[in-house]
Amino acid sequence: MVDTTVPDFVYAAKVDEVKEGEILALNIDDTPVALTRLQDTIVAFGDVCTHDDGPLAEGDIEGHCVICPRHGARFDLFTGKPTFPAPYPIPIYEVKIEGDEVKVKLDR
Ligand code: FES
Repeated sequence: MVDTTVPDFVYAAKVDEVKEGEILALNIDDTPVALTRLQDTIVAFGDVCTHDDGPLAEGDIEGHCVICPRHGARFDLFTGKPTFPAPYPIPIYEVKIEGDEVKVKLDR
């Protein structure tokens, strides 16, 4: 049977908890998600490096990339695209601001 359930936006954090240059690590429905602010945009991305499961929320933000703290792969926070040694992109989740709340749509 095909699951036709459309994923919905779920609460992630308060808007003022997400600060530029910092990464907020969350667990939303058992999915590790990280939030950061790039100027006026809040981005949500998968908090697991595709090279060897490094915790990206413990890495640094440089420009619009997050740098894995383990072996230095960079992931573009708009596209998820990686650099060596990470082989695959990370998920970038859709974000919606409602009042003072950040909501994220996880892929299921
Ligand atoms: S675990 Fe992220 S670059 Fe190796």
